[in-house]
Amino acid sequence: MQVWAIANQKGGVGKTTTAVSLAGELSKQGKSVLLIDLDPHGSMSSYFKLDPDTHEPSIYHLFQSPAYSVNDIIVDTGIDNVKLLPSSTAVATLDRQLGTQAGKGLVIKNSLAPFSEKFDYCLIDCAPLLGILMVNALAAANQLLVPVQTEFLAIKGLERMLHTLNMILKARAEPLEYLIIPTMFDRRTRAAIQSLRQLRDTYGQTIWENVIPVDTQFREASRKGKPISHVAASSRGAKAYLQLLIRLVDGNTEPSLMASGH
Ligand SMILES: Nc1ncnc2c1ncn2[C@@H]1O[C@H](COP(=O)(O)OP(=O)(O)OP(=O)(O)O)[C@@H](O)[C@H]1O
Ligand SMILES: [Mg+2]
Repeated sequence: MQVWAIANQKGGVGKTTTAVSLAGELSKQGKSVLLIDLDPHGSMSSYFKLDPDTHEPSIYHLFQSPAYSVNDIIVDTGIDNVKLLPSSTAVATLDRQLGTQAGKGLVIKNSLAPFSEKFDYCLIDCAPLLGILMVNALAAANQLLVPVQTEFLAIKGLERMLHTLNMILKARAEPLEYLIIPTMFDRRTRAAIQSLRQLRDTYGQTIWENVIPVDTQFREASRKGKPISHVAASSRGAKAYLQLLIRLVDGNTEPSLMASGH
């Protein structure tokens, strides 16, 4: 099982959209996917029409009691081969409760261990917060995706994110590969074009060669509780996430056989 964490401490940059969109594309490729909502706001759970204020049990219980396993928490998303470990508002209290308790940084990694054969991919949607949940996501992941909005303020936030990331990652035995993903790119605006250029100049090899464009179909997809691939497969947004998936799986940008799925 490949585990990808999607994180940026800046809010509203497309993290949840990236997780859901990649899950949709993976499902279309016949892969099985476990999504994990590690955000106390439960945006991804809400995306799939669960209510984080009332839903139980959630990943909160994984942290709270060894009596709970992934099997007790997992729910269907309505998308073929895509399951979800939902969040709930109680998750917001975990940082305060667990703060410095030893071993709590590995709860997600350990919980996933028995499922490594069951799913092809696990995608972890992080909150825009640094804390025990982000530490868990980074410990469990073998690839990190950092969506960043193509605007100047977001780039400032990215510097901060990468700095803190380096601090957290010092605790890991192996290095963690990361890929910066320019999102919500509006090619009609000078500001977007300039900030993309600045991102490429600054981050060179660690930034994806392509971009996720602004596309109103993302809003439509979230209204329907489905990934964009399942609502508007030929939209620019869906095609961009398919390209991203190909890059992540094949390690290059050449369209391969996977692209013929559409
Ligand atoms: N490429 C895009 N084009 C247009 N709208 C987008 C795009 N990507 C995301 N959005 C919209 O922008 C909003 C924020 O996206 P999203 O929830 O994915 O960000 P996030 O980083 O997960 O936010 P948070 O930090 O609050 O968890 C959502 O309404 C989403 O539908
Ligand atoms: Mg989110």
